[in-house]
Amino acid sequence: MKILVINGPNINMLGVREPDIYGKSTYNDLIDLIKNYAKEIDVNVSFFQSNHEGALVDEIQKAYFDKIDGIVINPAAYTHTSVALLDALKSVNIPAVEVHISDVSKREDFRQISYVRNYCFKTICGLGFDGYLRAIDALKEKING
Ligand code: DQA
Repeated sequence: MKILVINGPNINMLGVREPDIYGKSTYNDLIDLIKNYAKEIDVNVSFFQSNHEGALVDEIQKAYFDKIDGIVINPAAYTHTSVALLDALKSVNIPAVEVHISDVSKREDFRQISYVRNYCFKTICGLGFDGYLRAIDALKEKING
């Protein structure tokens, strides 16, 4: 099973950006956590992070040609603005889970809209980095039936 973990803008700044909200651990710590978990449960995982909306769209399209089975996506700020990411997910029709490190439901009004949520079969918010692991579990269950 091939799972792609996509992170949007400023997620590369984890550990530096607003540690009271996102914690002190870095993007590399997040990757290590996911890699170790994926190894444990025998899932093939790959990663992509970009600060650019079009690059994220390109990567979602590439997932189709790479025969990716499931997508974990934290679109970060593009969650709240991007119809292009929603359309890209709809185009490739690969099962996807939306993840947010923070609990967006308890934050500003402008964070209450999520475009990708219209496509993703599950949303996980406020579990910190563990949210990504729970998203992989959900994909595994969905794909294996
Ligand atoms: C985030 C929440 C978004 O509102 C914010 O723009 C981010 C990170 C999260 O993981 O909690 O960059 O997606």
